[in-house]
Amino acid sequence: MTDQELVERAFTMLQYSYVPYSHFPVGAALMCADGTVFTGCNVENSAFGSTICAERTALVKAVSEGHRDDFVRIAVVGNSADYCWPCGACRQMLYEFAPELIVLVARADHSFVRYPLHELLAHGFGPKSLAQG
Ligand code: THU
Repeated sequence: MTDQELVERAFTMLQYSYVPYSHFPVGAALMCADGTVFTGCNVENSAFGSTICAERTALVKAVSEGHRDDFVRIAVVGNSADYCWPCGACRQMLYEFAPELIVLVARADHSFVRYPLHELLAHGFGPKSLAQG
C-alpha cells in the first residue's frame, strides 16, 4: 500500500468521527508490517477530557487485537488548512510501541508530509527509560 493509499484510508474514517463539540473530525490508519490496517476516528465526550483522538483509537484497536511490535506507518488526517499534526498524547502513546514509526500527516487537500515519530517526539520517554541505574 502506498503512502497516499494509507492517507486515503484515514480519510474514509472522517465520516465516523463523533465531534459534536469541536466539529473537527480526524481520521487515522495504522499499518502493521504484514499489511494489516487498523483505522480510527476521534470520539468526543461531554466530559471533554474523556475524548479520545483518532490515532489512539486506531492504536488501542490494534493492541487489543494482538498487534504491538509491528507498526510501520500511520496516517493522520483532517479537513484542516494546516496539516493535522498528532497531539502530544498521541505521539507519546505511539512512541511506546514504535519509535521508528513513519507518520504521514495530511491536510484537507489530501497532500501530506512524512516524518519518523522520533523526530516528532525527540528524546521521547519509552519503556527503556524505566530501567534502573
Ligand atoms: N484530535 C485528534 O483526533 N487527534 C490529534 O492528534 C489532535 C486532536 C481531535 C481531538 C478532538 O476531538 C479534536 O481533534 C479537536 O481537538
